[in-house]
Amino acid sequence: MAWTTDDIPEQTGRVAVVTGANGGLGLEVARALAGRGAHVVMAARDQAKAQAAQASIRAQVPGASLELRPLDLASLASVAEAAAAILADHPRIDLLVNNAGVMGISDRRPDDGLRMQLPVHHLGHFALTARLVEALLRSGDARVVSVTSTGRHTGRPLDPDNPHLVGSYEPWRAYGQSKMANVHFALELERRFEAAHVPARSIVVHPGFTNTDLQARSVRDTGGGRSQRFFHAAVRRFGMTPAQGALPLLRAATDPGAVGGALYTPRWVNWGPPVRRPLLRRARDREAMATLWAVSERETGVTFEVKAPS
Ligand SMILES: NC(=O)c1ccc[n+]([C@@H]2O[C@H](COP(=O)([O-])OP(=O)(O)OC[C@H]3O[C@@H](n4cnc5c(N)ncnc54)[C@H](OP(=O)(O)O)[C@@H]3O)[C@@H](O)[C@H]2O)c1
Repeated sequence: MAWTTDDIPEQTGRVAVVTGANGGLGLEVARALAGRGAHVVMAARDQAKAQAAQASIRAQVPGASLELRPLDLASLASVAEAAAAILADHPRIDLLVNNAGVMGISDRRPDDGLRMQLPVHHLGHFALTARLVEALLRSGDARVVSVTSTGRHTGRPLDPDNPHLVGSYEPWRAYGQSKMANVHFALELERRFEAAHVPARSIVVHPGFTNTDLQARSVRDTGGGRSQRFFHAAVRRFGMTPAQGALPLLRAATDPGAVGGALYTPRWVNWGPPVRRPLLRRARDREAMATLWAVSERETGVTFEVKAPS
């Protein structure tokens, strides 16, 4: 039997933080969790979009327990502010879904913050998770869900001497690298959870080929890049709906049997119901994971310790 949202257990009393909850997959994850009674912190950048997203959930789930928190993952200051605000209201967090992302966008670094793909996909989420981990470990059954992509197959492990690909930035190279970083982060976090004997699971998912704003945004951003236009046209024709694409995230987040350190994806790679799939050996490269952790602490200035809360 295929896993569906009907399989989500009751979530009343659980606090979930979802990044990028104002659209696409994040909105569907927030909607489904709220529908099962979770209190959902919708951490989002564009606040007008976030208000509309909240209204759309409330229209479908009357009485949904929701709150909006501004979060720009490309800004470490914004991540710190969002984490502090969330912690002030929620000393215990049960679920963190690190979902927000962009795809194949151009290289615009300096003046208004870190805007390339590694910061949004990985460094911002690394810093956010590090700041929330103590609250997560106060839950008796915490989960952190990281979102990768088939782009990970083209990604190389982080180069500690040039993690931002300065001088060699290319939109797809950066996407692949950052989506591989999502995998290495999830697996290293699970290893640290296990080593510390804490009741928490870190799981990585690939949503599948899904018709969200991801592809359209990459076309807008690159001024109509050729491959970006190809993916946009293809996803409009062949993509799953956002509700379908959200299922691997929801399964990893809520299925009591979901396994820490595992990968959940659609059954047929980019399409189909959510199932557990094997991780390739290069995804499990211990040295790459250790490097990623050290580089992430250096680049974010945030020390990430996993230890049982006092
Ligand atoms: N759709 C697919 O086919 C597919 C396939 C593989 C993997 N994924 C992954 O799935 C995740 C969700 O993507 P989606 O398909 O739902 O795309 P989407 O509809 O474009 O949604 C992306 C979300 O990320 C947020 N976001 C982008 N930059 C941000 C930043 N700097 N700070 C905070 N939030 C930011 C966006 O919020 P704003 O609008 O406020 O910027 C939006 O809520 C991404 O990690 C993506 O890589 C998607």
